[in-house]
Amino acid sequence: MEKVLVLNFGGKFNLPIAHRVREQNVYAEIISYKDITVDEIAKRGYKGIIFTGGPDSVYEPDAPKFDSAILGIGVPILGIGYGCHLIAHMAGGKVTDANDTREFGEVDLVIMKSELFDTLPLVSPCAMSHNNYVKEIPMGYKITAFTELCPSAAFENSEKRIFGVQFHPEVSNTEYGDEILTNFLYRICGCSGDWKMEDVAEQKINEYREKLSGKKVLCALSGGIDSSVAALLINKAIGDDLTCVFVDNGLMRKSEVDFVERYCRDTLNIKVIKVDAAERFLSALKGVAEPDKKRRIISDEFARVFKEQADKLDRVDALVQGTIFTDVLQRGAGDIGDLNGVIDFKETLEPLRDLFKNEIRDMGMALGIPPEIAYRQPFPAPGFALRCVGEVTEEKLKVLRAADAIFCDEIAEAGYEPFTNQYFAVLTDTLSVGIMGSERITGKTIVLRAVTSDDFLTADWTRLPYEILDSASTRITHEIEGITRVVYDITPKPPATVEWQ
Ligand code: XMP
Repeated sequence: MEKVLVLNFGGKFNLPIAHRVREQNVYAEIISYKDITVDEIAKRGYKGIIFTGGPDSVYEPDAPKFDSAILGIGVPILGIGYGCHLIAHMAGGKVTDANDTREFGEVDLVIMKSELFDTLPLVSPCAMSHNNYVKEIPMGYKITAFTELCPSAAFENSEKRIFGVQFHPEVSNTEYGDEILTNFLYRICGCSGDWKMEDVAEQKINEYREKLSGKKVLCALSGGIDSSVAALLINKAIGDDLTCVFVDNGLMRKSEVDFVERYCRDTLNIKVIKVDAAERFLSALKGVAEPDKKRRIISDEFARVFKEQADKLDRVDALVQGTIFTDVLQRGAGDIGDLNGVIDFKETLEPLRDLFKNEIRDMGMALGIPPEIAYRQPFPAPGFALRCVGEVTEEKLKVLRAADAIFCDEIAEAGYEPFTNQYFAVLTDTLSVGIMGSERITGKTIVLRAVTSDDFLTADWTRLPYEILDSASTRITHEIEGITRVVYDITPKPPATVEWQ
């Protein structure tokens, strides 16, 4: 399989770069500049290398550097932001403070002839974010694009196939960013685009079939796309030697438990042991209002329930977890907990740890999961405990479940599911006065939240049509006792998070 190296210099854009590359059916591997040498890079046979952004200036004492021999190994290189400064610096150019020509945001890019910009119009918007710029390009290089304030928005040595861009093609504000990456990957690096989810799935199934032959494997299934695809891969590899456990913790959405049971049986064709543990979780959460304490209690209780199930089986050799690539980068975000700490598994399998969410969806669909399930919104493992502000009680859960179901129904009814990525209700502790007939009453406040996001690392609030908000608000205040106010959360992430707790 052909691979491109995303050599990470600490910029926040390494993930989007890898994402954009992989969307073009080319496998991108992110490695920190500290963890690999030029010799190793040359040995691994990468088709191309992308230097990511990084700190402000290559001249800071601890600014990340790399062996300049990389420019001579004959593999095409694209340096982005700091990555282009580093190319200039290593090849003998000069980078300086841009002073009053610093650029941030969308800027017009004017291009000259370059293979990198083939198919681009003469002028198009690009995303800039720089305090420094390449003042003198190295010998043997030529400038291939500029902006009003930056004379060296792109430069290259076409013979050596080394390219630098000051702007960020991986950001959506760069209108032709995808075309630039396509040109780099296909024209310049000569990739053929062999990163296809059907093939990756087949490869993983064959690998696990061999590795797990004769072993008994256990999987915690939540009904979400990640654990479903992980289970499906292992199931296709070893059939009934895989046992899946689904724990009903009582903190799920309305109808979720029935849905997961039906979906495992009818769609995944996987045998699942369902454990009804709602009471246990609720009593463990009694009196607890602090969000991280709730997370910990839920994670510990889950591990205990799971261990009891594992103990009932004759033998368990390995555990499957639906960890995905962003989980690896954000460890500790409160997933189902480290079951290895509770049960002594000889082996843990994480078949999806190198994949992005969109790739897992594609793989799921290649394995027969219908699109409406592959694109279901994510649901956090601690469930409604995070959306019930303060102590979690049965009564509060009942109210929250009803409000959430109304909001989800209204979005589905309006056909708006494809246009928002996660949406839910939150039950706050805020009391607010309302009017019922001629009486003034005090009730609680429900918050509605809907976000648009690719990876949930950042998110924007979804501009839901007023009609959806209107009917959700009307139904929630009329159909649910004790709710006197409904508000819509219009905060992006950052500064807010998606969840309220
Ligand atoms: P935040 O709130 O961190 O959420 O912006 C980003 C995404 O992660 C989900 N999330 C969680 N998922 N356990 C989970 O399994 C958690 O403790 C947790 N907290 C947040 C959230 O629903 C969103 O999709």
